[in-house]
Amino acid sequence: MTNNKYKNWNINQDNEGIVWLHIDKADSPTNVLSQDVLQELREIVLELENKPPRGVVILSDKESGFIAGADIKEFPLIQTEEQARDALNLGHAICNGIERLPCPTVALIHGFCLGGGMELALACRYRIADSDPKCKMGLPEVKLGIHPGFGGTVRMIRLIGVMNGMDAMLTGRNISSRVAKKIGLVNYAVPKRHQINAARSIIFKAPKAFKLPFWNRILNHNQVRPHFAKLLIKKVEKKAARAHYPSPFAMIDLWVRCYDDHQYMLQEEINSFVGLIVGKTAQNLIRVFLLSEQLKSLGKTGDYNPKHVHVIGGGVMGGDIAAWCALRGFTVTLQDRSTETLAKVIKRAFGLYQKRLKDKRLIRGALDRLIPDIRGDGLKSADIVIEAIFEDAQVKRDLYAEIEPKLKKDTIIATNTSSIPLDELNTILKKPERLVGLHFFNPVAMMPLVEIVHSPKTSDDVTKKAAAFTRRIDKFPLPVTSTPGFLVNRVLMPYLMESVELVGENVPLALIDKAALEYGMPMGPIELADTVGLDICLKVAEILSQHMDIAVPERLRQMVEKGDLGKKTGKGFYAFKNGRPVKPSIPKDYTAPTDIQDRMIMRLVNEAVACLRDKVVDSADLADGGIIFGTGFAPFRGGPFHYIESRGKDQLITLLDQLEHRYGPRFAADKGWQQL
Ligand code: NAI
Repeated sequence: MTNNKYKNWNINQDNEGIVWLHIDKADSPTNVLSQDVLQELREIVLELENKPPRGVVILSDKESGFIAGADIKEFPLIQTEEQARDALNLGHAICNGIERLPCPTVALIHGFCLGGGMELALACRYRIADSDPKCKMGLPEVKLGIHPGFGGTVRMIRLIGVMNGMDAMLTGRNISSRVAKKIGLVNYAVPKRHQINAARSIIFKAPKAFKLPFWNRILNHNQVRPHFAKLLIKKVEKKAARAHYPSPFAMIDLWVRCYDDHQYMLQEEINSFVGLIVGKTAQNLIRVFLLSEQLKSLGKTGDYNPKHVHVIGGGVMGGDIAAWCALRGFTVTLQDRSTETLAKVIKRAFGLYQKRLKDKRLIRGALDRLIPDIRGDGLKSADIVIEAIFEDAQVKRDLYAEIEPKLKKDTIIATNTSSIPLDELNTILKKPERLVGLHFFNPVAMMPLVEIVHSPKTSDDVTKKAAAFTRRIDKFPLPVTSTPGFLVNRVLMPYLMESVELVGENVPLALIDKAALEYGMPMGPIELADTVGLDICLKVAEILSQHMDIAVPERLRQMVEKGDLGKKTGKGFYAFKNGRPVKPSIPKDYTAPTDIQDRMIMRLVNEAVACLRDKVVDSADLADGGIIFGTGFAPFRGGPFHYIESRGKDQLITLLDQLEHRYGPRFAADKGWQQL
């Protein structure tokens, strides 16, 4: 069976009778299970079923990995339950067919093996992973508001037990080959060069079966399942509200109801999946995924290939930016005026690397790339300089005047300023076109977005290179104009200020946060302000208030004057204990105003509309992406502009009119609403 009649698959049968089934999706650097790939695989599996060989090995010819999952770009085409059911039936027919083959079947996994790719591997009798740390397996469907749909919900639990299986599916997290071997997800983890031999030997001699411990098997018993499910539900409820994120609850329900009969569970998996994928949450989360792809595409690397980053300022931001860039493979020199500060950064970086890299050799490598450089020797060879010193225009200008003569002619200077217009900073430069903003968010390791700030003087080439660099360090670039607050802080500030207004009206703190959480924000605004630091909030609010109609609440000023700065001083709006806010309970007899949520959210949404009108970003989609990834705005709502679309523009304008009538001009609908 050797033929090349397929576009996306190459099939070779060797002289020992083993069929090597290579996936190599046409015109794509990554293998994804698009409809055409699946249709071809269905035909191939039918052929194999008709004439079973000695063994089948599924492997990928792509450098990037095995299979990254379904083709998410095709998901928006699925609008009805029927369309979803057709797609799933095809996937089930393939996986069931592979599972039924009477010969040994092996998935040879390297790089990414996710979603549908993982489900295909689960349908094989054996899995052999590349032992390289880059090899990642998982079922991340929950992040798109769905769950595995090609039989993964059944096979994952059957293979590795409900504890590990549910953990993988409910969190969607990646599993390394080391862990995969330990929990029985793969039979072997070997270096890539040994994979072929390992596959051959596994076909001729079955390995010892991995046996789940008794306690792990007992959890699947129908008397035990409902009790364990309760624990799982409790755990999930801490992270996600059922009304906003139904898919993890659907997975638990599926297991409790159906696990005794695997065939029935496979059928029910389809029924559950189709209901989820046509629902609002999944549609919006898929949209968020596609927005992230759009943002990524803005940083297409082309031939820009920087190697050396020099960071100046080793404080909260500079230190973390330097550590992050070294983690991502860059040589980083870090300059600060104080050696103690540099030592602190290295200590922090060590913590980050331990968490992310785990392997001692890799941690050592990353630490070796992060070079303290008190004298600024790195300036002369740096491809990109990131400045993260105090937020003071004169201090920044003095620094630029000092460093520019030392730089290579094409070195980019990137400032992390959060509020100073670039045109106030570039005046001192001989080449003002080389100054761009790279606005990172705090904490750097957690926040995926970087605003790429350009002024009329920034050259297009520099803006593009800054975006490309952002992709190289695995962040999403969002081009914005150099206007006060750029996009993210500008929309966030009115929302935060409104929450402080509510505090002034004696609305209980916990109630304000609760209203935001119920909308779907990841953290309430009061806790957020305390976490960011009230001094920083005040500073940004004061700068923004010079340019836009934002009143800075007096209460905020008083708290900063008193030194109550939030988490970092142990007291802000909340008192903090062990780094966590102590939230006073809401008085029982308190009647909450009904418009708290609308007041906060509508100020954010109204400002987003103003940003679009001011052309801070190029499109409503980019604004949605930027606001979701920069502020954590309820992802399942698809972003503020998508929210406008789903709730209705006219309805929201009326709501703003009512709020303006009740609370004053800060709620006046921006002119931009008319252009939507
Ligand atoms: P920070 O006060 O923690 O750190 C500033 C560091 O710069 C200090 O370690 C100081 O020793 C060093 N420094 C000052 N002048 C220097 C010079 N001439 N040469 C070498 N080192 C010098 O400040 P932070 O919070 O890290 O802010 C830095 C920049 O990042 C500011 O422009 C700020 O607006 C911006 N930013 C801050 C965010 C935050 O959440 N803190 C978020 C996004 C941007």
